[in-house]
Amino acid sequence: MRTIQCIGILTSGGDAPGMNAAIRAIARSAIYNGWKVKGIYRGYEGLINNDIKELTSESVSNIIQRGGTILKTARSKEFMTPEGRQKAYENMQAQGIDALIVIGGNGSLSGAQVLAAEHDVICIGLPGTIDNDLYGTDSTIGYDTALNTIVECVDKIRDTATSHDRIFFVEVMGRDAGFLAQNSAIASGAEAAIIPEDQTDIDQLEQFISRGFRKSKNSSIVIVSESHKNGVGGAMHYANRVRKEYPEYDVRVTILGHLQRGGTPSAFDRVLASRLGVAAIEALKEEQRNVMIGIHDNKIVYVPFNKAIKMDKPIDKELINVLDELSI
Ligand code: F6P
Repeated sequence: MRTIQCIGILTSGGDAPGMNAAIRAIARSAIYNGWKVKGIYRGYEGLINNDIKELTSESVSNIIQRGGTILKTARSKEFMTPEGRQKAYENMQAQGIDALIVIGGNGSLSGAQVLAAEHDVICIGLPGTIDNDLYGTDSTIGYDTALNTIVECVDKIRDTATSHDRIFFVEVMGRDAGFLAQNSAIASGAEAAIIPEDQTDIDQLEQFISRGFRKSKNSSIVIVSESHKNGVGGAMHYANRVRKEYPEYDVRVTILGHLQRGGTPSAFDRVLASRLGVAAIEALKEEQRNVMIGIHDNKIVYVPFNKAIKMDKPIDKELINVLDELSI
């Protein structure tokens, strides 16, 4: 295998708090090991358009505490085509980039997997997404911060819900995964969570209503995952159903939206990103390729791309029971 002298870093897909901490860790660790580092701007778009600049130890100073990504990000359509990936490969060669480190979610790591397979390049992935939906890692960079942001918002919504005796349906992100919904419901003391992983045939709203919601309470909060199945889902859908089927209740909807993606990363996410960034360079030194660096039981693990991307990450049933028991 060709010895590595220069690595490229890019962030791709939805931004996540802690991506900057990961960029800093990868860059500093690579420089520590005597390698050159190139920052690629706007994800795969930058690789296709040759929007690439060298990063120094100083250029990643003062970013560990900042949300977003200094390298910017994009969801590149062109990279989905073989022609786009050919251009990306040629620019990698021209820039002397021996290995590529991709920080992103499912789609971004799928892109790395295809590039590696088509052009025999070395790729390493770091899980960077608020959704926490990558298999093989207990947590993804940005998830903890987003969870804390949601809980902070729901605490505020609770004040007004209680004052008005209202039911609030609060919609949270997560794409097709319910980690943000389920855990924010537990942490905020919500009465229920409606998540895509709950595969029971029983309607989750009916279940919540049949348990006698508001019998002993003067307000309720239901956290709803944004996920839609067969066109059905989201907070608005459930709120409208209650308005129609139980007109006696005063219902409101809050869609938290992109504020969940912003903000200063939590200490947990900064430490996670720093550990995963250093581990990415270690992995390259060990001649690993096409793996995502994850964390499992507080230990660094290497997860092959096809597993990280393709396998469903289950929600622990225990979390569903915890919420059920505590929301009586
Ligand atoms: O994957 C991160 C995420 O924030 C999802 O939770 C959400 O469904 C999606 O990205 C939103 O994407 P965009 O910012 O492109 O609208």
